[in-house]
Amino acid sequence: MSIENDKLNIGFIGAGKVGRALGGALHNKGYQVSAVCSRTKQSASFMAALIPGCHVFENSSQVASTCDLVFVTTPDGVILDVAETTSWTSGQMVVHTSGADSREILEAAASAGALTGVFHPLATISSTGNVANPFDGITVTIEAEFPLLQTLENLSHALGAQTLRLRQEDRALYHASAVFVSNYVCALADIACGLWEEMGFDRKQAEKALLPLLQGAVHNIKTAGLPDCLTGPISRGDTGTLVKHIDALEKLCDPLSSTYRTLGMHTVDIAMKKGSITTEQAHDITSILIKQENQK
Ligand SMILES: NC(=O)c1ccc[n+]([C@@H]2O[C@H](COP(=O)([O-])OP(=O)(O)OC[C@H]3O[C@@H](n4cnc5c(N)ncnc54)[C@H](OP(=O)(O)O)[C@@H]3O)[C@@H](O)[C@H]2O)c1
Repeated sequence: MSIENDKLNIGFIGAGKVGRALGGALHNKGYQVSAVCSRTKQSASFMAALIPGCHVFENSSQVASTCDLVFVTTPDGVILDVAETTSWTSGQMVVHTSGADSREILEAAASAGALTGVFHPLATISSTGNVANPFDGITVTIEAEFPLLQTLENLSHALGAQTLRLRQEDRALYHASAVFVSNYVCALADIACGLWEEMGFDRKQAEKALLPLLQGAVHNIKTAGLPDCLTGPISRGDTGTLVKHIDALEKLCDPLSSTYRTLGMHTVDIAMKKGSITTEQAHDITSILIKQENQK
């Protein structure tokens, strides 16, 4: 089978957010997205209707039989089952888009002689689909064997994404890093909104008030970068304020004060790197954070 990009027949197993976005973006860049199947025919038909020349198939083996490159864009927990129940062809390319799993999960396809890989868009791709090309400007991490590696890098560049090669052994750390900046930011926003509820405000008021602060923090990371973007009591060496925060959180909820202290310890490191506190101040702040922890 040909692996020249402009001649590839590309298929999708899974017509959800990533399948629709990637299929649509590749089509818009001149690639031939010709086949899709999904758990339900409704999803597959919806995706096919967005992409001229894309045909709906009943099952994954039918998609595999007509395509050179097949993206498995199902939920993570289904990829192994798809790999094991699909009839693959030797020389075919089979790629999943999960950040959590390495290409080992496609072992069944590799055993059938397929080239396997991972193409992970480091972005949140939503169901609204209102971004013309959500891959433009993002980073796509790729793990694949040659020559599939080159093929996927070409696709990624065509979409306007930066491409990075990821080693299999680094995948867990890589995915954890994404959880920190994405999911855990949601968790932190939720904690902050919860404190507003404790003060008698409702969630909507809290979100409206806190969102500009969150956007400002992201903007500062983007413009000033780490560690210079850091502001707040630890950056100023303001120990009195920290004691008040921890006391108030201790009274409210034990795990919250623990979270505050843990993040505080890391924030001390950032402030040191920024040079906004001295070693002595860092020691004082750390003592407060640890002391409060030991007093529990
Ligand atoms: N969304 C993101 O922000 C994002 C970003 C990077 C990577 N990813 C990765 O991309 C992959 C897809 O994520 P997603 O967000 O697109 O998920 P999603 O919106 O839930 O879509 C998954 C699709 O897979 C289909 N499906 C489920 N079981 C199937 C099966 N056995 N055979 C065929 N199709 C099946 C579903 O079909 P029906 O609709 O017919 O039920 C659904 O359309 C995941 O590995 C995810 O980790 C997601």
